[in-house]
Amino acid sequence: MSDLTLDQLSPGKPMRIEKDGKSICVTKIGDQVFAVDDTCTHSDASLSEGDITDFKIECWLHGAEFDLRNGQALTLPATQPLETYAVKIDGNSVTVEI
Ligand code: FES
Repeated sequence: MSDLTLDQLSPGKPMRIEKDGKSICVTKIGDQVFAVDDTCTHSDASLSEGDITDFKIECWLHGAEFDLRNGQALTLPATQPLETYAVKIDGNSVTVEI
């Protein structure tokens, strides 16, 4: 059972899903899909409300940037990486592997 479908994802527009008690931020960039923890590691902000540039997501609250490919915190005030999750795409089905 998939978590969402590819056509629910607009390019560069993050979407939050809930799975196994976790909030996950899912983003399609080109034909790749990335999944990271939705909660910023700096404080309690939802990253799916942030902006995407290239492979980066910027937290709307204080502006920390993270690399969606590996979860790394790229700019202050965040210093801790985000958890990342593997994504399986099968046709139109997208499954986040937790
Ligand atoms: S809560 Fe994200 S940068 Fe502060």
